[in-house]
Amino acid sequence: MDLSRFAPLLEFRDVGRTYVDHDFRRVAALEQVTFDVRPGEFVSVIGPSGCGKTTILRIAAGLEYPTSGTVRFEGEPISGPGRDRGLVFQSYNAFPWLNVRQNVAFGLTNRLRPADELVDKWLLEMGLSDFATVYPKALSGGMRQRLAIARAMIVEPKLLLLDEPFGALDDRTRLSMQELLLAVAARSRCTILLVTHDIREAILLSNRIVIISPRPGCVKEIVESTLPMPRSREGLKTREFERLYEYIADQWQTGQPTGSNTASEAEGGGK
Ligand SMILES: Nc1ncnc2c1ncn2[C@@H]1O[C@H](COP(=O)(O)OP(=O)(O)OP(=O)(O)O)[C@@H](O)[C@H]1O
Ligand SMILES: [Mg+2]
Repeated sequence: MDLSRFAPLLEFRDVGRTYVDHDFRRVAALEQVTFDVRPGEFVSVIGPSGCGKTTILRIAAGLEYPTSGTVRFEGEPISGPGRDRGLVFQSYNAFPWLNVRQNVAFGLTNRLRPADELVDKWLLEMGLSDFATVYPKALSGGMRQRLAIARAMIVEPKLLLLDEPFGALDDRTRLSMQELLLAVAARSRCTILLVTHDIREAILLSNRIVIISPRPGCVKEIVESTLPMPRSREGLKTREFERLYEYIADQWQTGQPTGSNTASEAEGGGK
């Protein structure tokens, strides 16, 4: 289906983000980042460490504000976090003092309707039904990430934001998790924005891949992933996959590192 005719769900227009570090130097994390995510799309953002990928997700989640440009969700400027955008953080996501079931149910605590059915559904969907009473410290890495996704999905967000969710997993577990995510995305029709530094993951999962250059991060290119649908690990064995992989790896390598951590040293103060 051609998704380009739909109005964007998320829009980044010329977005910049500059931080001020502890020496009062300005660090440009993002510069003029422009891309959009349309309803039903799976978009990946890839780029080297420190190029601003997490910053992009935090801005989309409303946890961070841009210092220039505009970010809109359903056409409205983003003014803070909302239940319509679920974020799975790059680092550990669960409350250690709650068991798996309580963790999954956490986002529903303000709902009037009993949440049991919904919690059961997401435990089943993520293959965690047999671990409902277990505490997070007793879960494997893959299970923890499934728990994190269940926690984000249970409130039925319009947009799921995933920050390198499978980065710490071994190859086999990662592939199963990627297939699970594809299945969940197809069933729930949730729109997904995924941050990764794994080119293979981006090609396998996405409709489009936003390649970010080294810091300050800006959009180097947006590539369509043309692997046949529905996606599965079989797609990784195709010539099209090889072609896309080589192309994206080339684009990545021709990025120009700035060589400096700071945008305009000694300007100090301000945002
Ligand atoms: N709160 C902050 N204060 C100052 N600098 C920050 C802050 N958050 C991020 N940065 C800087 O912004 C840049 C981008 O950081 P970000 O975490 O978005 O990168 P990333 O692409 O997610 O990296 P990685 O792949 O390692 O997770 C880095 O130079 C980082 O040091
Ligand atoms: Mg990051």
